[in-house]
Amino acid sequence: TSPVDYQAEDATISQGTAATNHTGYTGTGFVDYTNVTGSYVEFAVNAASAGTVPVTIRFANGTTTNRPMDLVVNGTTVVAGQAFNATADWDTWTTVTFPAPLTAGANTIRLTATTANGGPNLDKITVG
Ligand code: GCU
Repeated sequence: TSPVDYQAEDATISQGTAATNHTGYTGTGFVDYTNVTGSYVEFAVNAASAGTVPVTIRFANGTTTNRPMDLVVNGTTVVAGQAFNATADWDTWTTVTFPAPLTAGANTIRLTATTANGGPNLDKITVG
């Protein structure tokens, strides 16, 4: 099946806000994580069948400091402290991809900031 985009600004946001104050995002904006540990965005993802699929996370980090996050699928941390390294500025977006073990039907993919800087700016994830 074809990859499906899920926009961060349409997902469940805890300690973050939808924003549009930088360029280059897809959809109607991006999520600006609050600068606190534990801030997260959670996506509701449906899968036709069980299996591990690539999930590509599109982000910007206009600082000079890594903004690591835990990548959590259905409550299980699949990658702890994944690096989201600096991009050239807040208008410059890049991607990180990880393998997500999905079950058939409803799934959650949560991206949780693990430092007091919060997460990077998050544009979308692409599943499959
Ligand atoms: C700046 C930037 C935001 C970003 C924030 C941060 O305020 O404009 O888009 O989210 O820094 O440090 O997270």
